[in-house]
Amino acid sequence: VKALKTTAMGQKIKILETVSSTQEEARMMAETGSPEGSLVIAEEQTGGKGRMGRKWYSPKGKGVWMSLVLRPKQPMHYMPQLTLMTGVAVCRAVRKVAGVMAGLKWPNDLLVNGRKISGILLESAAEDEYVRYCIAGIGISVNLDAEDYPEELAGIATSLKIESGESIDRTALIAAVLEEFEILYQLYQQEGFGPIATLWEALSVTLGKPVTVNTARGTVMGIAEKLDDSGALLVATGEGTHVPIFSGDVELKR
Ligand code: BTN
Repeated sequence: VKALKTTAMGQKIKILETVSSTQEEARMMAETGSPEGSLVIAEEQTGGKGRMGRKWYSPKGKGVWMSLVLRPKQPMHYMPQLTLMTGVAVCRAVRKVAGVMAGLKWPNDLLVNGRKISGILLESAAEDEYVRYCIAGIGISVNLDAEDYPEELAGIATSLKIESGESIDRTALIAAVLEEFEILYQLYQQEGFGPIATLWEALSVTLGKPVTVNTARGTVMGIAEKLDDSGALLVATGEGTHVPIFSGDVELKR
């Protein structure tokens, strides 16, 4: 913590050996008044959570499994922007510390050569349409070897060690994520989503590509064009029509 170049993010850290999910721990901290920037890190999660009710594989000592307590003074509908901002922070930290040229897939997956290396899960509690607190969960597969993955993840998941050929210092990576996060969070609060969207678009592997998006309201096919002001993904479906995607699963055609 002493060497950490932040004023809020990660200034209060709870480190756990084994936990079901750092999301739940962070939620309890938020509920009991922990300040913005409070962080929970676990060596291992036995019930790691992904988006859309999926599980997140979080084996002992092999990754960064952590959740950050945030207290943005914003209406709830800005939360997708914060998800994208978190993705930018993680992407920049991964590139800097591991030298792995990961890219972002909307909304928040970090991919290397089409395989997932990191995922982000933002969960928030509301009060009168405003955010009471938000928990930014960050999972980064750091030092897993190919044989560490269960069969169902082989071929779709990868790690920084697999991609860079060397073990990566998790502490340095955590520090870099927190530092990038704080810089971007300040930028976001001062200047809004515009500069974040530009950064996100530059790191994206989704834009300009044909995609199939599965949403609750059906399947949308087209070219992923850009972000709109809210952080939705605009998919061009032909003849000048753009469909904004607010939530869903994007499949990239390779
Ligand atoms: C996804 O890609 O579906 C999101 C994955 C988020 C995983 C992280 S690991 C730390 C935090 N605790 C959890 O249970 N999930 C998030």
